[in-house]
Amino acid sequence: MEKTHIISCCCCLLCFFLILKPTLVYSLSPDGKAILSLLASADASSISFSSILSSWNLSNPTPCSWQGVTCSPQDRVISLSIPNTFLNLSSLPPQLSKLSSLQLLNLSTTNISGPIPPSFGLLTHLRLLDLSSNSLTGPIPPELGTLTLLQFLFLNSNRLSGGIPRQLANLSSLQILCLQDNILNGSIPWQLGLLNSLQEFRIGGNPYLTGEIPSQLGLLTNLTTFGAAATGLSGVIPPTFGNLISLQTMALYDTEIFGPIPPELGLCSELGNLYLHMNKLTGSIPPQLGKLQKLTSLLLWGNSITGPIPAELSNCSSLVVLDTSANDISGEIPTDFGKLAVLEQLHLSDNSMTGPIPWQLSNCTSLTALQLDKNQLSGPIPWQVGNLKILQSLFLWGNSISGTIPSSFGNCTELYALDLSRNKLTGSIPEEIFGLKKLSKLLLLGNSLSGELPQSISRCQSLVRLRLGENQLSGQIPKEIGQLQNLVFLDLYTNQFSGGLPSEIGNIMVLELLDVHNNYLTGEIPSQLGELVNLEQLDLSRNSFTGEIPWSFGNFSYLNKLILNHNLLTGSIPKSIRNLQKLTLLDMSFNNLSGSIPSEIGYVTSLTISFDLSSNRFTGEIPEEMSGLTQLQSLDLSNNMLYGGIQVLGDLTSLTSLNISFNNFSGPIPVTPFFRTLSSNSYLQNPKLCESLDGSTCSSRILRRIGLESAKTVTVISVTLALVTLAILATWVLVIRNRKYMAKKSSGSASSSGCENVSAIEANATAGVSLPPTISRSTEGQINRVVERSSQVSQKLRINFSVGRNIFL
Ligand SMILES: *[C@@H]1O[C@H](CO)[C@@H](O)[C@H](O)[C@H]1NC(C)=O
Ligand SMILES: *[C@@H]1O[C@H](CO)[C@@H](O)[C@H](O)[C@H]1NC(C)=O
Ligand SMILES: *[C@@H]1O[C@H](CO)[C@@H](O)[C@H](O)[C@H]1NC(C)=O
Ligand SMILES: *[C@@H]1O[C@H](CO)[C@@H](O)[C@H](O)[C@H]1NC(C)=O
Ligand SMILES: *[C@@H]1O[C@H](CO)[C@@H](O)[C@H](O)[C@H]1NC(C)=O
Ligand SMILES: *[C@@H]1O[C@H](CO)[C@@H](O)[C@H](O)[C@H]1NC(C)=O
Ligand SMILES: *[C@@H]1O[C@H](CO)[C@@H](O)[C@H](O)[C@H]1NC(C)=O
Ligand SMILES: *[C@@H]1O[C@H](CO)[C@@H](O)[C@H](O)[C@H]1NC(C)=O
Ligand SMILES: *[C@@H]1O[C@H](CO)[C@@H](O)[C@H](O)[C@H]1NC(C)=O
Ligand SMILES: *[C@@H]1O[C@H](CO)[C@@H](O)[C@H](O)[C@H]1NC(C)=O
Ligand SMILES: *[C@@H]1O[C@H](CO)[C@@H](O)[C@H](O)[C@H]1NC(C)=O
Ligand SMILES: *[C@@H]1O[C@H](CO)[C@@H](O)[C@H](O)[C@H]1NC(C)=O
Repeated sequence: MEKTHIISCCCCLLCFFLILKPTLVYSLSPDGKAILSLLASADASSISFSSILSSWNLSNPTPCSWQGVTCSPQDRVISLSIPNTFLNLSSLPPQLSKLSSLQLLNLSTTNISGPIPPSFGLLTHLRLLDLSSNSLTGPIPPELGTLTLLQFLFLNSNRLSGGIPRQLANLSSLQILCLQDNILNGSIPWQLGLLNSLQEFRIGGNPYLTGEIPSQLGLLTNLTTFGAAATGLSGVIPPTFGNLISLQTMALYDTEIFGPIPPELGLCSELGNLYLHMNKLTGSIPPQLGKLQKLTSLLLWGNSITGPIPAELSNCSSLVVLDTSANDISGEIPTDFGKLAVLEQLHLSDNSMTGPIPWQLSNCTSLTALQLDKNQLSGPIPWQVGNLKILQSLFLWGNSISGTIPSSFGNCTELYALDLSRNKLTGSIPEEIFGLKKLSKLLLLGNSLSGELPQSISRCQSLVRLRLGENQLSGQIPKEIGQLQNLVFLDLYTNQFSGGLPSEIGNIMVLELLDVHNNYLTGEIPSQLGELVNLEQLDLSRNSFTGEIPWSFGNFSYLNKLILNHNLLTGSIPKSIRNLQKLTLLDMSFNNLSGSIPSEIGYVTSLTISFDLSSNRFTGEIPEEMSGLTQLQSLDLSNNMLYGGIQVLGDLTSLTSLNISFNNFSGPIPVTPFFRTLSSNSYLQNPKLCESLDGSTCSSRILRRIGLESAKTVTVISVTLALVTLAILATWVLVIRNRKYMAKKSSGSASSSGCENVSAIEANATAGVSLPPTISRSTEGQINRVVERSSQVSQKLRINFSVGRNIFL
């Protein structure tokens, strides 16, 4: 049924185009036929569904009544404008060039592909040609240079390639030239500097456009817009640009431009937007820019600009956005900036600026964003900051700012993000801050703040990130913190908080990170924490928590880091651990945990980074199921009372670090490449472990190897070598005394000779040093180094998720 329907439909369409069309079109004027050539390349479905084309009555004598077509009194087509019609044309038909009276052609956003026909050069009456936002390919035909009446040429947002033809310089009436967002290459022809009517020149977004900016472009005195961002242009900004007295916007960011900002730009008195960020500019900011009375945006970030910010910039009374971040700017913040009455954003981050934050900035009452982070600013935060009534973000982190946090922040009622981390702030956190109704991010990490957290913290319901780590805050963590229902990050690590962890924290349903490590917290871990079903990272380490690990921790189905080391926890690991299917790091070391390692841990296959149970009182054998942890990189079971075989560890093929020392393990050490490279430190104090050839039985003669790790080791090795020599001598004596015994040995068990071979390989692998059969040979120093190294690892891991503030903010 349906099939026949479709077939008849197709037949109809075919009839329409193959039979009806030629007869109907017979009476149509040549201009009409030229326009219809557009449709010949369109697919049939496009035509039948396009609403604009339904008005194109093929029986008309002229196309003058068709939608999108305008004619002269002589019925010649002077304008064809059918933008935003998705004709799905395969290409631009050359026949269009027969519209010899055409003055305006707008085929913008019609999804045309294919090249621009060179015959378009015949449309010599064209004033406007807009082929933008299509899928045109191939070069810009040099023939377009003959269109000397052309005022507007839009070829932007296509896939045009090749160079910019210098013949375009013949378009002496051209006012707007838009070639941006193509894949043009080569350099800008200097001849374009002759287009003295040009007002807009846009070539940005052509990443393969290279070479220098021709100084002749400085002749374009009517130019208002120069856009060349995101290109491969290099060289310097031509000082001749100072002649561009009409220039309003200069977008020259994200290029290979280098050298200084020419002081001549100060002559471009109409300049409103100067975008020079993400280049390789050097030298200092010319004071002459202070003459730009109309400058509203000055973006210079991401260059290598040096020297101070000239005080003259404070004369740019229209300045709204000033961003000089990520340069090498030195000197102080000009106090005259207080004159910038309409300044909304001041970004001076990531430079080498010194001196104080001038109180005069509080005069810039239009400021919404003030970002001075990552400099060497000193002195206090001026108390006048409270005048900045519409300030939304204030970043001062990474400076040397001292003094207290002014309580006048309480008047910055629009404040959304306040980051004062990594400074030298002292005193307590003023309660007024928690009265800010819009404060979402409060980051005060790494200062010397003291005092207690007020109960009134619960007033700040808007808080999403509260990060107070690395201070000297003390007292109890107020239970009111549990009322902060929007809190996602709660960082209180490395302070002096004491008392218990309030169970009310379990009410913060959206919490993803809870880090209270390195405080003086006591009591049991509240089982209510198990309600935090969105938790991704939990660090309670280095406190004095007692009691058991709550069973409810099994609720943490998104948790990827669980860090509980250095507490006084007792009991066993809850079997609910199996539910932590996102866990990558588990550290329970240095507690008083007991029982056996639950087999459930073997099903937490996400455990990839580290699993540390060291320095507890675990007993029993390593469960077989642990062979499932095939992605695990670091395993530490040292300093427990574990026993039994360690064969299962041979299956942990991703291991790069292992420590099972100070246990009671026995039996053969797995024969895997990893175990072959492992230093004997990893096995220390497991006297019943043995070296094996086949991985299942102990070989009687165990020859261990060791790296040349310290001077002490070398001493040990020397002594050992002496012993070995003695042994060889003794053997030789034996050989002499009992040839019969010797003969039996050499022709005897294959395993014996095999062992020799393996030892030889091992010996080669460790600089030719082989050692006598006892494993416990390391020095105190080496043990310490192992411990040191592993604590460095966990510290690194912690840094990765608690200091990465930039990433989170
Ligand atoms: C052009 O093609 C697209 C996708 O194939 C289609 O959605 C659109 O309707 C077509 N345009 C016309 C006018 O048929
Ligand atoms: C198409 O044009 C012819 C002649 O100009 C006219 O007779 C006919 O009604 C038109 N058809 C439509 C659908 O407008
Ligand atoms: C072409 O048409 C589009 C859509 O109406 C319009 O936005 C654009 O400005 C036109 N081009 C010119 C040069 O007028
Ligand atoms: C543009 O045309 C191509 C075919 O030339 C078609 O595949 C594509 O879907 C069209 N895009 C739109 C947005 O119509
Ligand atoms: C451009 O103009 C010059 C002389 O003004 C002429 O020699 C040249 O042929 C022209 N080029 C084109 C493509 O029209
Ligand atoms: C520009 O690209 C074309 C191909 O699109 C290539 O043939 C030509 O060599 C390139 N020119 C330059 C200067 O890179
Ligand atoms: C430049 O602009 C001015 C004012 O708009 C105009 O009078 C003058 O003719 C333009 N110059 C050129 C060369 O087009
Ligand atoms: C520009 O600023 C400087 C220093 O801030 C000042 O000395 C000078 O008078 C100002 N010039 C003008 C024209 O305002
Ligand atoms: C403060 O701003 C006013 C006007 O906005 C200005 O007249 C005054 O000079 C400024 N004061 C300072 C210290 O910058
Ligand atoms: C805060 O604003 C109030 C009312 O505008 C004012 O009385 C008070 O002095 C301001 N405090 C500070 C520290 O700016
Ligand atoms: C968390 O786990 C406990 C026991 O394990 C259970 O009673 C509680 O309902 C769980 N809470 C949520 C929110 O899943
Ligand atoms: C560990 O727990 C046991 C009892 O479970 C207790 O006797 C011992 O003192 C505890 N050790 C430490 C260091 O707390």
